[in-house]
Amino acid sequence: MAPVLSIQNLTKHFGRIKAVNNLVLEVTSGQVFGMLGPNGSGKTTTLGMLMGVTNPTSGSFYWFGEEPTPQIRKKIGAVLEHPIFYPYLSGQKNLELNAMIKECPVANIPRVLDLVELTDRKNDKYKTYSLGMKQRLAIASALLNDPTVLILDEPTNGLDPMGIAEIREIIRKIAAQGKTIILASHLLDEVQKVCTHFAVLKKGNLVYTGPVGEVGSGAEIVEVNADAEALNELLLQFSGTTSINRENGSYHVSLRDGFHSKDLNKFLFERGVVATHLVTKKKSLEKQFLEILSEST
Ligand SMILES: Nc1ncnc2c1ncn2[C@@H]1O[C@H](COP(=O)(O)OP(=O)(O)OP(=O)(O)O)[C@@H](O)[C@H]1O
Ligand SMILES: [Mg+2]
Repeated sequence: MAPVLSIQNLTKHFGRIKAVNNLVLEVTSGQVFGMLGPNGSGKTTTLGMLMGVTNPTSGSFYWFGEEPTPQIRKKIGAVLEHPIFYPYLSGQKNLELNAMIKECPVANIPRVLDLVELTDRKNDKYKTYSLGMKQRLAIASALLNDPTVLILDEPTNGLDPMGIAEIREIIRKIAAQGKTIILASHLLDEVQKVCTHFAVLKKGNLVYTGPVGEVGSGAEIVEVNADAEALNELLLQFSGTTSINRENGSYHVSLRDGFHSKDLNKFLFERGVVATHLVTKKKSLEKQFLEILSEST
């Protein structure tokens, strides 16, 4: 079976700005695929090309193994950055209008309203909705024609913790129905919580792609030294230590998943030991990604 989406060397340049560079990606059926990257890394530009609203400079992509056509795009629902609804119409009325535009049955509305938990607010005017409710209505609208794929651009941006949790729960429900989801985010934590697979973009370049489960793995090794007699014992006492090697007068400490050099530094400092030398030899993927995400372009 052809992958849901395959992208080959997709490129978009805006004058001198290389927004997306030779992107190669594959998304298969049932994945919740995260496109992770800091501001300006090319996420929205990529989604825009996939939705046919931005023309690629070069490269190609295929939905379900086929050239993108308006017909194929009917299988894809999208919530891009600024959904447009009529403020003085109710959620229900706004969905009815969207159903008309998309030429899909009005009978689908109750089901999508239910999914995003807006049934009891459906007759209220859109302008009275909270930001979270507006975002949920946008998701409902994208699901009206029962698409196979749902694309979401930063679905939790600007929401409070409660609103974020609600959106993530809705994404999980939609995924559980077997739909493929492609989601752009600048939050590693979000991708780890809702995605099965992901790609990391940095200045328009793909720097990593793989399953989410592997992110936390890959131990960090810290090279450390200090003027302390019992340094060896102390390093062994640290709960993040898996093993210790002595090399060239320094200790090489392998850390357990989730532990970082700064945890070890803090541990030593709290025991009155000041490290004279402390260098991370191998960074965990998680740490590498957090560094990428903290850089702005
Ligand atoms: N219409 C445009 N004209 C010129 N430059 C653009 C245009 N759209 C995007 N860019 C540039 O392309 C780069 C990628 O932008 P894009 O919006 O795709 O990033 P993003 O990853 O979605 O960022 P954010 O997290 O802020 O949404 C940026 O440098 C941006 O300024
Ligand atoms: Mg964006």
